[in-house]
Amino acid sequence: MASVKPISTPDVTIRRLWPTDITSYREHLLRLDPDSRHSRFGGGVSDSYIGDYVDTSLRLDTLIYGAFSGPKLIAAGELRILFGAWPLRAETAFSVERPYQDHGLGDQLLTRIITAARNRGIAKLEMQCLSHNQRMRHLAQKHHAELTTADGETEAQLVPLTFNPISLFEEWMGEADGTLSRLNPWKRSGLN
Ligand SMILES: CC(C)(COP(=O)(O)OP(=O)(O)OC[C@H]1O[C@@H](n2cnc3c(N)ncnc32)[C@H](O)[C@@H]1OP(=O)(O)O)[C@@H](O)C(=O)NCCC(=O)NCCS
Repeated sequence: MASVKPISTPDVTIRRLWPTDITSYREHLLRLDPDSRHSRFGGGVSDSYIGDYVDTSLRLDTLIYGAFSGPKLIAAGELRILFGAWPLRAETAFSVERPYQDHGLGDQLLTRIITAARNRGIAKLEMQCLSHNQRMRHLAQKHHAELTTADGETEAQLVPLTFNPISLFEEWMGEADGTLSRLNPWKRSGLN
C-alpha cells in the first residue's frame, strides 16, 4: 500500500460517520466551493440536490469516513456497496473543503476506504472524476487504480487485496483512534 504523508493540520481526526452525523455531512458538502462541488458531483448541483443526496447516505450499503477539525467535518470519503453485483463492487467518492486540500486528507481517506472495502470482500472499487481532476487521478494511480478516460470523465478501477488479520486490525485501530479522539477533549484540541 502507498505511504501516506502526515496530515499537516494537527487537530484532525478521521472516523466513521454515524446517522447522528448526517447534519454535519450535509453542512460539509454545502460548504464546498463551486469548483470542488462541481468536481465532487461531476457537474453543477443545487443545494437541494445535496440535501436529497445526503438523505440517501448513511444507509446500510454506505460507509462514510469523515475528517474532523475539532467538531467540524472538513472532508469525507464515501463507499457505496453495489449489492446485487457479483463479485461484490462498490463506488467511492471524496470531498475535501478547499482550505484543507493538498494536505494529505484525500490520501488518508482513500487509504481508509480501500481497507474497509478489502475487509468487506469487495472485489472491485470504482471511482469517477472529471478527467482534468489531476489530484484525484494522481491519488487513484498512487493506490494502483487502472484509469480509463472518455468524454471528459475518468473512471478509476481498483482491486483491493483479500482481507487478512492485519487489514482488520488496521481498520479497528483507525476506528479506535477516531473514537478516542472524540471522547478525549485534550486530544481533540491538539493538546496531546
Ligand atoms: C480530489 C481531492 C479529494 C483530493 O484530496 P486532497 O486532500 O486535496 O489530496 P491529498 O493532499 O491527499 O493528495 C493530493 C495529491 O495530488 C498531488 N497533486 C496536487 N496537485 C496536482 C496536480 N495538479 N497534478 C498532479 N498531482 C497533483 C499532490 O502532490 C498529492 O500527491 P502525493 O500524496 O503523492 O504528494 C480533494 O482535492 C477534493 O475534494 N477536491 C474536490 C472534490 C473532488 O474532486 N472529488 C473527487 C471526485 S469524487
